[in-house]
Amino acid sequence: MSDSFLTIRREGPVEHLTLNRPDVRNAFNEQVIAELASWAARAADDPGLRVVVLAGAGKVFSAGADAAWMARMAGYSHAENVKDAEGAAAMFRAINALPCAVIGRIHGAALGGGSGLAAVCDVVVATDTAIFGFTETKLGILPAMISPFVLPKIGVSAARELFLTGMRFDAARAKEIGLVHAVVPESLLDETVQRYVTEVLSAAPSAVAAAKDLIPRVWGQSPEAVAALTTGAIAAQRVSPEGQDGLRAFLEKRKPAWVVEPT
Ligand code: COA
Repeated sequence: MSDSFLTIRREGPVEHLTLNRPDVRNAFNEQVIAELASWAARAADDPGLRVVVLAGAGKVFSAGADAAWMARMAGYSHAENVKDAEGAAAMFRAINALPCAVIGRIHGAALGGGSGLAAVCDVVVATDTAIFGFTETKLGILPAMISPFVLPKIGVSAARELFLTGMRFDAARAKEIGLVHAVVPESLLDETVQRYVTEVLSAAPSAVAAAKDLIPRVWGQSPEAVAALTTGAIAAQRVSPEGQDGLRAFLEKRKPAWVVEPT
């Protein structure tokens, strides 16, 4: 393996993870995917990690799958090709399932799998000049591995339009369809990301993880079907140490122990 394509900077409970392959606009090949997967495995087991800020070095966030890597698959057997795709799918699943909050910091472009990476973030902040697109069909391939994460974000209607046309769209449209949460001028990008970081750091880590876990399990289900899950979750959380600290702190007009004040 050559040098790492990820830059990792830790600041207390916050990890800044930056895709660092700017020559090819942070396109991801098998090495980037393997590095992201092993980073995600470590992050999932890190109880002190409360927020991840996912960004891209250079001109853009990410140009998605490395076209050269995809093209090389013609030399692989079908079984090898499937195994390779499973590795990428597992990487998206691992980031998606992290128990901490993942904040995407998007500038320039997030195309193909780059928009897929945005979809596995919990919060996405984009510059007003950023472009997005599920451009795979323009290259004769498919937004397949990212679709389980994109569809719950943008819905079937936008997916039918954007997957089938492969058209690029701006940050305002990305916000309208639910892929992005805040669109800001470049000069306010880091400040806005930091605001979200501060908000997460004032929420209880165990409550953040439990809320994140609850969402996909409840989504699309009838209230009756998930009654045991939702009542069980709140029954456990409100008597947990953080649940008790948070409720008492509110009543006693003090801050709970988990709050990290901005420096
Ligand atoms: N895979 C492999 N290489 C890529 C790439 C990708 N997805 N995206 C960009 N690159 C390479 C280019 O081939 C170019 O290489 P070169 O310097 O050897 O010519 C280099 O990165 C810079 O790309 P360029 O297009 O000149 O950069 P730009 O800043 O003008 O534009 C993008 C950036 C992201 C808008 C543009 O590169 C782009 O549209 N890329 C394709 C995105 C896409 O459709 N992804 C889906 C892949 S399935």
